[in-house]
Amino acid sequence: MRSMRNKTLSLLILLLLQPIDTTSTPTPRPWPDQFHALLYMNLSKGLLQISDLWYDWPRGTNVNIFQKQLGVLLYDVEWDNGTTFYFTLGEPATCEVMQFEVGIPRRNFLDGAKYLGTQTTDGFLCNVWEKVDFIWYFEDVVSRRPVRWDFYDGISTHVITFEVGAVLNESFIQAPSYCFSEATEKRVFDS
Ligand SMILES: *[C@@H]1O[C@H](CO)[C@@H](O)[C@H](O)[C@H]1NC(C)=O
Ligand SMILES: *[C@@H]1O[C@H](CO)[C@@H](O)[C@H](O)[C@H]1NC(C)=O
Ligand SMILES: *[C@@H]1O[C@H](CO)[C@@H](O)[C@H](O)[C@H]1NC(C)=O
Repeated sequence: MRSMRNKTLSLLILLLLQPIDTTSTPTPRPWPDQFHALLYMNLSKGLLQISDLWYDWPRGTNVNIFQKQLGVLLYDVEWDNGTTFYFTLGEPATCEVMQFEVGIPRRNFLDGAKYLGTQTTDGFLCNVWEKVDFIWYFEDVVSRRPVRWDFYDGISTHVITFEVGAVLNESFIQAPSYCFSEATEKRVFDS
């Protein structure tokens, strides 16, 4: 009877000593339904740009407004039906329409990513994952906000602000009329 109780007690102590979460591998937090992020991007070849990213899952839009360094302001409006409009307003007014097979990124697009451990980047201690040799994703260990992601092609993105719940005014996502003219270049991507 006593040894039984001792056994139970030692088991209990063992359980209590077990630090939480040592057995489970960290997984990336899914993207919020809606957010706005200001991004600093270093493109391959070293060119720089700032991007306003407006992700809106319920509306089915993913909008990037790129300010190229000392260059154009480029709108990239992606719809979940696979259509993406790339356009500039004013001079020069350009538009390119592309059709992709997949829509905007799923909130859990990082599911199945391989955990690589922790690393300090941009001054933040981060959990790091890699998915299909395509993306390396850095998430702040404490706040669990994304800090940085790198693509296989050398483009490196650094998150400057991250506002959960912010929504882009409807009037900014409507592509201009010249996107719908006959002359507009349309490209279709099968994969
Ligand atoms: C941008 O990336 C390139 C290539 O990785 C690097 O050599 C360069 O220093 C970076 N520039 C800035 C401003 O971060
Ligand atoms: C996808 O939705 C946008 C916005 O409503 C629309 O302009 C575009 O034509 C649609 N694309 C397709 C392939 O239906
Ligand atoms: C969106 O922008 C338009 C034009 O600037 C403005 O009239 C409208 O009030 C804005 N809507 C919201 C919800 O902020």
